[in-house]
Amino acid sequence: MVRFLLLIFICSAAISNLLISSALAEVVTCSNIVPRRYRHDKISITDFGGVGDGRTLNTKAFRAAIYRIQHLKRRGGTLLFIPPGVYLTESFSLTSHMTLYLASGAVIKATQDTKHWPLIAPLPSYGRGRERPGGRYMSFIQGDGLQDVVITGDNGTIDGQGDVWWNMWRQRTLQYTRPNLLEFLNSRDIVISNVILKNSPFWNIHPVYSSNVVIRFVTILAPLDSPNTDGIDPDSSSNVCIEDSYISCGDDALAVKSGWDEYGIAYGRPSSGITIRRVTASSPFSGIAIGSEASGGVENVLAEHINLFNTGIGLHIKTNTGRGGTIKNITFSHVYIEEARTGIKISGDVGDHPDDKFNPNALPIVKDITINNVWGVKIRQAGLIRGIKNSPFTQICLSDIYLHGVMGPTSPPWQCSNVLGASHQVSPSPCSELVTQQPGSCANHF
Ligand SMILES: *[C@@H]1O[C@H](CO)[C@@H](O)[C@H](O)[C@H]1NC(C)=O
Ligand SMILES: *[C@@H]1O[C@H](CO)[C@@H](O)[C@H](O)[C@H]1NC(C)=O
Repeated sequence: MVRFLLLIFICSAAISNLLISSALAEVVTCSNIVPRRYRHDKISITDFGGVGDGRTLNTKAFRAAIYRIQHLKRRGGTLLFIPPGVYLTESFSLTSHMTLYLASGAVIKATQDTKHWPLIAPLPSYGRGRERPGGRYMSFIQGDGLQDVVITGDNGTIDGQGDVWWNMWRQRTLQYTRPNLLEFLNSRDIVISNVILKNSPFWNIHPVYSSNVVIRFVTILAPLDSPNTDGIDPDSSSNVCIEDSYISCGDDALAVKSGWDEYGIAYGRPSSGITIRRVTASSPFSGIAIGSEASGGVENVLAEHINLFNTGIGLHIKTNTGRGGTIKNITFSHVYIEEARTGIKISGDVGDHPDDKFNPNALPIVKDITINNVWGVKIRQAGLIRGIKNSPFTQICLSDIYLHGVMGPTSPPWQCSNVLGASHQVSPSPCSELVTQQPGSCANHF
């Protein structure tokens, strides 16, 4: 018997080795959702008077170069080359069928002149600026209604010089909502790769009402105490592929959103088909978050092979009464967490409201959440799952989870309420709501 078992063990080890080596040969990727483009037509920012001395304002050069791309409409699009140097500029808009290419040592740097920063309308799914009522400042580099746009290069830098904005936030002198570093609205076939994003005034990358967006080999850096410098926030967008990136910032490293309370419900555009893979992140708030603005719904999210270190909350699904929206079919798999206040949190009481017109009866639905193969060390609290009384979270399926570290003396490792689901091989042992298998809930998960 022992020999027989040993044989089975050796065979299955050989098979899994085979599987591993074939996986090595072909790295799994979702980046093929946007076709690769080669641009024959190339221009340089210096052809348009661009000066990379760190002092000259290059707004006119960027606008002229992009105007040329937009109006000459070269077959296959045009590449705008940014040579090494520091190019100070005001915010500008991209156009379709272009590549913004930053050479190694190229820096596109945002001006700190906040007085002349353009204002634009709030997003309809938010009804107002996210942090201040009314309009919002235009994102530093943005595109609206575009297709086939690439921002790439040899790891040049886009620097938002956000400290003036962070200080206005700290001193409460902000008139409108701060600009994002990169934003694409109503756009498709967008690639952001091989760039370094630094010191965004607000969120770093914000694809909204967009589809087929690829973000890979991106480095995002902002101080841990910089307010609201989220890394990547796919918002009411579909088919978004985020891979092979490093994020260290002052708010959620990744947060999938879809609008805010009554405005997001009325706009009704979900985020779906979001893949997050091979990302390393650190954040005082969440490593990977869904919400809290999720009023259009969030579904079909897969996050796998994720490394999180020094985070507030490792994996965080957050929503609130008044949000409405359905969050479903979310999978977190193969996650390593080193040092977190809370490993896994799913909660129905997080986030503020745009105004007092939100509908208190608009209860969000959270269901079909799969979390497996999570390994965490130095975790203060393993899990916190707080559903909503009249809308309990269902099909919460946890398996192969190990979350250990210094537990607070008073708090139990897991705290749950208004939740239905099951668990398999979870340590420390989860709350009673998840210990016993409820029929049908997670049947095909373990
Ligand atoms: C740019 O950065 C990415 C991600 O960190 C890295 O994989 C790639 O090798 C770098 N490319 C160059 C040209 O340095
Ligand atoms: C759930 O989401 C995954 C992506 O993570 C997708 O492949 C799958 O089709 C979705 N399932 C359903 C039933 O929509």
